[in-house]
Amino acid sequence: MTEKTVTIAMNGVTGRMGRNQHLHRSILAIRDSGGIVLPGGDVIMPDPVLVGRDERRLKEVADAAGGARWSTDLDTVLGDPAVDIYFDATATAARAGSVRRAIAAGKAVYCEKPLATSADEAFELAGLAAAAGMKNGIVADKLFLPGIRALERALKSGFFGRVLSVRCDFGYWVFEGGLEEPQRPSWNYRAEDGGGMVLDMFPHWQYLFEGLFGQITAVLCRAVTHIGERRDENGAVYTPTADDAAYGLLEIDNGAPGGILATVTSSWATRVNRDELVEFHVDGTDGSAVAGPRECRLQPRSATPRPTWNPDVPNPLDFRAGWLPVPPQEAEENAFKRQWASFLRHVVTDAPFAQTLAEGARGNRLAELALASSEQRRWIDVPGRADQ
Ligand SMILES: NC(=O)c1ccc[n+]([C@@H]2O[C@H](COP(=O)([O-])OP(=O)(O)OC[C@H]3O[C@@H](n4cnc5c(N)ncnc54)[C@H](O)[C@@H]3O)[C@@H](O)[C@H]2O)c1
Repeated sequence: MTEKTVTIAMNGVTGRMGRNQHLHRSILAIRDSGGIVLPGGDVIMPDPVLVGRDERRLKEVADAAGGARWSTDLDTVLGDPAVDIYFDATATAARAGSVRRAIAAGKAVYCEKPLATSADEAFELAGLAAAAGMKNGIVADKLFLPGIRALERALKSGFFGRVLSVRCDFGYWVFEGGLEEPQRPSWNYRAEDGGGMVLDMFPHWQYLFEGLFGQITAVLCRAVTHIGERRDENGAVYTPTADDAAYGLLEIDNGAPGGILATVTSSWATRVNRDELVEFHVDGTDGSAVAGPRECRLQPRSATPRPTWNPDVPNPLDFRAGWLPVPPQEAEENAFKRQWASFLRHVVTDAPFAQTLAEGARGNRLAELALASSEQRRWIDVPGRADQ
């Protein structure tokens, strides 16, 4: 057995995602569990070097990570031949510049979504990484969630017959500040800082819908800013300049006549009355499913109840009782960690990895077209991979 150390420069680890999901729940969790064991018994051991701007905060994160190495000098870290991968979970507007430097330094690149603030820049970065022959990937964590993996198994088994439509409902109330602390950073609500619901969530919808159902061919969207005043991290009042909700429709080509129509609601100004913060309701000719991050429930055609519309009497059917949970098929594991393991295997053993920067750029493109649709109040075609 040999142990292959993979050194990862991790930028943005003083932030929510970088620290919690990527450093602690992925990289340190992989280390704690003895690394990634390959089929022949060899082990991949990730070794983080933390990168950031604020010495004090970085040191704090490094200490909490068991004394990880850290630096405030990105170029020196990228110049170190021992560093194999550059990872970026910085705020969206900061990402493209650092990714560009990492590609120029010959590092494999893995980063949070969205890849950039514009689709053109995202495609340019994807092209640079491909031209440099560097392994590259973008976070597509939702595909690795147990509920979504269960949905994927149901799709692959042919359970649905012909899939007709999908209803995606995402969101929760993000507090404005003042009475209650906001639970998301204020840059999320400033367009000039890379914020906005569409730029944040449509990259997720791109890899999810295209990963599960087929190619997105057209988008119709209305993006709005419901909340006109918020307070930032220091309690100062500001006027949001980015959308905080988006009401969308997607046309999906899955090869079947008529394709699939998806409605996608994303809102930070809604109060939750669902089982999970995001749910995908899939209707097919032979069955339906409701999937969330953790669970997926099915109702086959032969167990479909026969409701009759009569609001004059109480509804006699317990609709929710008529759905079957899909049992778990694998050990519970954090979705980010699962994708990290997949990317590390890709870097070390060349194992396939579908979520490339080019796919990430497609997520940026979808977001951009959704915003254009909103501004122009019309359907907009989404180019296929060959035409982008
Ligand atoms: N995959 C997901 O489910 C998911 C969820 C939330 C956020 N995200 C993405 O993760 C990224 C980070 O989001 P977050 O919520 O952790 O934000 P955050 O504000 O908590 O953290 C941002 C990090 O970037 C750093 N940073 C900010 N501006 C910078 C600059 N100019 N140069 C260098 N570093 C800078 C901050 O110091 C901090 O470490 C965003 O791109 C966001 O879209 C992904």
